[in-house]
Amino acid sequence: MSRILEALRRAEQEHGAPAAPPTAEDDLAALPELLRALQPRAAAPDRFAACHYRPSLEHLLATDGHDRTAQAESFRVLRFRLEAWRGREPRKIVLIASSIPKDGKTVVAVNLARTLALTGARVLLIDADLRKGGIHDLLELKPDSGLAEVLQGNERWQGVCREVAPLGFCYLAAGRLPANPAELLRSQRLRQTLQEATTIFDWIVVDSPPLVPFADARYLAALAHGVVLVARDGWTPLPELTKSLQALASYPLVGLVMNDSDEEPSSGYYARYPLMAAVPMEESARA
Ligand SMILES: Nc1ncnc2c1ncn2[C@@H]1O[C@H](COP(=O)(O)OP(=O)(O)OP(=O)(O)O)[C@@H](O)[C@H]1O
Ligand SMILES: [Mg+2]
Repeated sequence: MSRILEALRRAEQEHGAPAAPPTAEDDLAALPELLRALQPRAAAPDRFAACHYRPSLEHLLATDGHDRTAQAESFRVLRFRLEAWRGREPRKIVLIASSIPKDGKTVVAVNLARTLALTGARVLLIDADLRKGGIHDLLELKPDSGLAEVLQGNERWQGVCREVAPLGFCYLAAGRLPANPAELLRSQRLRQTLQEATTIFDWIVVDSPPLVPFADARYLAALAHGVVLVARDGWTPLPELTKSLQALASYPLVGLVMNDSDEEPSSGYYARYPLMAAVPMEESARA
């Protein structure tokens, strides 16, 4: 059993299981235990060497909605939870944030956009990581003009937004990486772009650079309707995760994704906590 589940079970033994049905508050009450569980494994490999797995469209994305892999299932769980959170409210903009590089924000953002699009919803995926812009790599697309040019006033977002036909969503690339990303992200143009996009799309999924070292994701959080925080089991250090939670304290945290978890997404514990979704490690990465 993973340390996360062990911690959840311990928390329940100590404080008693939440009276059904569990709420978002139950998730937050479980957080301290959860955070303790997220201490990096003692024998964690070197940060960059650990990410040996290179995703490709064939086995990373939920391709047709009938995909039975644990990864595809975990994104359906996350989609269900976001749909439940939204209900009938006009909440469309979801920021995918995490503490440090390599937690899995971009993987989560792309797969969530794909999984939302499988319902027929109109989905816009925005690469707002103006420091690195990782989505085009993951989608094996050529770098293109995008958000940076829009925020600099050189393009209209409608002009640089692309439909990624096989995946069913539209994509606004990061564009040519600017020298002043945080300044651009706090500009009025971003607010206006997102506002206009909400009149066209059902969901807007926004990828971001790491929260702890940069201000960028905080500006984005201020414009998002909800923030999904990604942590990577055995990778995200507890102090960094704590800093992220503090940084997000005044923003609507609507989801916690435990990436690279060795637990099944349908496992009883995750299923009982409404904000949580566990994304298992991709099978080929285990070998
Ligand atoms: N669940 C997973 N199973 C296997 N590999 C994964 C998983 N999640 C992420 N990875 C791999 O880890 C690496 C980092 O993931 P990703 O680029 O999504 O992180 P990030 O948080 O966006 O990082 P950055 O802040 O640097 O942009 C990628 O090579 C990705 O394929
Ligand atoms: Mg990224």
